[in-house]
Amino acid sequence: MPYSFSMGKQEPEGAKIAVLRDSLLQWYVEHRRDLPWRRRTDPYAIWVSEVMLLQTRVAVVVDRYREFMARFPTLIALALASEDEVLALWSGLGYYRRARLLHRAAQFVAERLGGNLPASAAQLRALPGIGAYTAAAIASIAYGEPVAVVDGNVERVICRLAGWAAGGRNGEGARLRRKIEQRAGQWLDPARSGDWNQAMMELGATLCTPRNPQCLVCPLAACCRTRGEHETAARPPMVSRTVGYALVVRAPAPGPGGRVVLLEQRPAEQPVMPGLWELPALIDAETPPEELRMTLRHAILQVNYFVRIRTLHEDRVEALTAKSGQRRWTPLDEAARLPLTGLARKVLMRAHLLPAPRIETSAPAQDAD
Ligand code: ADE
Repeated sequence: MPYSFSMGKQEPEGAKIAVLRDSLLQWYVEHRRDLPWRRRTDPYAIWVSEVMLLQTRVAVVVDRYREFMARFPTLIALALASEDEVLALWSGLGYYRRARLLHRAAQFVAERLGGNLPASAAQLRALPGIGAYTAAAIASIAYGEPVAVVDGNVERVICRLAGWAAGGRNGEGARLRRKIEQRAGQWLDPARSGDWNQAMMELGATLCTPRNPQCLVCPLAACCRTRGEHETAARPPMVSRTVGYALVVRAPAPGPGGRVVLLEQRPAEQPVMPGLWELPALIDAETPPEELRMTLRHAILQVNYFVRIRTLHEDRVEALTAKSGQRRWTPLDEAARLPLTGLARKVLMRAHLLPAPRIETSAPAQDAD
């Protein structure tokens, strides 16, 4: 029973760290979520999951991960794919640079390392797109290397356990970060580093949440200095913006072939989502009610977009839209395979112009490596 560990409101030290480890690991074994990557043990599968999870919530990642792994079950399959196809399967996860770097790193490993992902955190860090966090996650989960993972959830858990207020962005923040990393390494269970790291992240994601932490059922409450929300810097407020896009669909011409939709490619030099395909942007989001096809909300970072989708006849596209990249009339079956922005894919799916993703619903088999 984890709650029998009573230290007052003390931080764990020395022998008590063993109790901290046992309490958290026991809780993790009993309560961990059944996530598709937790049924896999091959380093490639762990790598893909960690890259997807870097800036994206678990709930969003689960389905995309299943689809991605069904199409690219091995590192070699990923290395042989075109970048466009990789980006198409990344759609909806955002931060497309991650997908490009993952693809490039897979090609490097396939061509130069015989398809074998390096087995230590230090070597993994040399690959494109693999930073300290991802390297530690792969090395500990797939290879059992005793290296601590520190992501936002782990930082919060450690700060609360130790009773530390969150630092600012200045030198004080960097000092706190070093203290957190040092503590993470000290508490890590070297014999079960993969489970330990995942347990810390799991605790932060499910119980030790930023707001309303569930301290009454926390396995570490007895050794936590905070037991509640800790002091943090104010979050930047969300900003709202209204934007509009044109949905321009040509009826099928007589003969073979279906409908085509007008898409525009974002310029390669765009800092955000370069090269991805989207619907033409309306100059003015105000839309007469008879042409308003749908409205939806789409959040990116601190911006809440209120999106209006206007059905346009192709004759009016030039006058009503702002062109910033090349445009292409695209058959719908081809559009499904293009790297679309998450918003464009969402709109086309809601308009029943693209099918909803096909995802296996039964649990994938355990790897046999
Ligand atoms: N967040 C990122 N990686 C994770 C993992 N392996 N388990 C739980 N949460 C995570």
